[in-house]
Amino acid sequence: MSRLIESPAWQALKAHQKVIEPLHMRQMFRDDPARFDKFSVQLNGLLFDYSKNRINAETVKLLLALASQAGLPGWIERLFSGDKVNSTERRAALHTALRTPQGIPVLVDGKDVMPDVHRVLGLMRSFSDAVRNGTHRGHTGKQITDIVNIGIGGSDLGPLMACEALKPYGSPNLRAHFVSNIDSTQLTETLKKLDAESTLFIVSSKSFTTQETLTNARSARVWLVERLGDEQAVARHFAAISTNLDATAKFGIDPRNVFEFWDWVGGRYSLWSAIGLPIALYIGMDNFEELLGGAHAMDEHFRNAPLEQNIPALMGLLGIWYGNFFGAGSHALFPYDQYLHRFPAYLQQLDMESNGKRVDRDGTPVDYDTGMVIWGELGTNGQHAFFQLIHQGTRMIPADFIAPLHSHNPLGEHHSLLLANCFAQTEALMLGKTVEEARVELEAQGLRGEALEALLQHKVFPGNKPTNTLLFDRLDPHTLGMLIALYEHKVFVQSVLWNINPFDQWGVELGKQLAGKILPELRDGSLASRHDASTRGLIQHYHERCR
Ligand code: F6P
Repeated sequence: MSRLIESPAWQALKAHQKVIEPLHMRQMFRDDPARFDKFSVQLNGLLFDYSKNRINAETVKLLLALASQAGLPGWIERLFSGDKVNSTERRAALHTALRTPQGIPVLVDGKDVMPDVHRVLGLMRSFSDAVRNGTHRGHTGKQITDIVNIGIGGSDLGPLMACEALKPYGSPNLRAHFVSNIDSTQLTETLKKLDAESTLFIVSSKSFTTQETLTNARSARVWLVERLGDEQAVARHFAAISTNLDATAKFGIDPRNVFEFWDWVGGRYSLWSAIGLPIALYIGMDNFEELLGGAHAMDEHFRNAPLEQNIPALMGLLGIWYGNFFGAGSHALFPYDQYLHRFPAYLQQLDMESNGKRVDRDGTPVDYDTGMVIWGELGTNGQHAFFQLIHQGTRMIPADFIAPLHSHNPLGEHHSLLLANCFAQTEALMLGKTVEEARVELEAQGLRGEALEALLQHKVFPGNKPTNTLLFDRLDPHTLGMLIALYEHKVFVQSVLWNINPFDQWGVELGKQLAGKILPELRDGSLASRHDASTRGLIQHYHERCR
């Protein structure tokens, strides 16, 4: 058994779970009218309500003891101070430095990285201002109207999610497009809508070796040169963002249009770096700095608030409570804000690529579950699709409900209806509906006897389903920054408790290696004997049908 499972804090939680298991939140709310006040935190207009969880004061105390046992406060300090917390890659993970205001030094290997951070922010400002005010124009002198970000994973999802989330702040003269997939359909469909003379491509790749990104970038370059009839056009229509400046030069991107970042920025934590350039272009640099400011506010909270009032710590611990002590396998996210429609996809990478690990920091296989499956969809849409399973299915699916109090697009009663649904879902999930209540309801509908009994159990909701609710005033850049940083830190908290490294992603490598071996077989019609029968059959089928 691992030290974690054997530890007193873990064992105490295991015993405590047996006490909490039979209790219903409905009763807990009845017994304690102050439950909401006890189990909610407010921070700069953000309300975190975690009272609809299967917890009492003792649960929180025991979870906090688990956090202290893991040395969480020390790990938080190590993260912020540039320690090599990414041990397998011997790197710091300093996304927090990217949103630290000027004048506060942050050291990596004894060097203050902040002058570089602010130098690149300055370059991003000049470039985004120049594109937005028409100083930087296309090769033929036309103003840039369309930006196409070519990148994948962390070099796509963050900027895409943020541009969608902050649409009300977007320039009316610019459209932002995102091409990530190697499937040529995405690039082709995007280019169909564009005029090469007024299109700016941003090739975003931390490594600048990613097959999808380089393939899409090459095809986009061919498209541009074909249309403008001049290789020289590339200089005004291509920018790059990378840590690999040799590779951007080799690709032929004008060094004046290259924005660098550093190996201590993880791909899925990189939207605060130059990877955020499409966001800065779209919403303007002042708004981008507001986004950084929001994230910094959350950083300060995470670093300084006592753990019992610390929103990322509490969220992380609640996830562990359900994942490790109740056996929940997934965690859902339901933004009740249309602009957040890519937020679940963004958080999927952030969480699952970080905490999907099978060995601890020492390389020993863990004997406890680590990262949960993260998924989600907009409210109210999800309610009419899969909420049935959450309400009446057999699995426990803890969920976060995320909503703004005010809409950017007020229209009649729409927003009140949206919020009524959001609040009602968490209430319904918590309360459920008892047999007695279902019976009264059916009787009121005129059912009696066998007809009533036949339907009765189908109308029962067990309730006791845990949810968190996050409410904020309006989805503005500052708030979005806070929200993203909150989830980054939640993921970090869980990694500390599980003693895993959340900053590497070796699990993505094997598929890439094998694709590299299969590609020549698809090209030349060969079939290597090393394949298993299924893969051989698939390749053979391709050869028969496609060659
Ligand atoms: O394959 C996974 C991954 O390395 C992610 O971690 C990363 O965000 C994405 O690919 C893109 O990588 P890059 O920015 O180096 O092109």
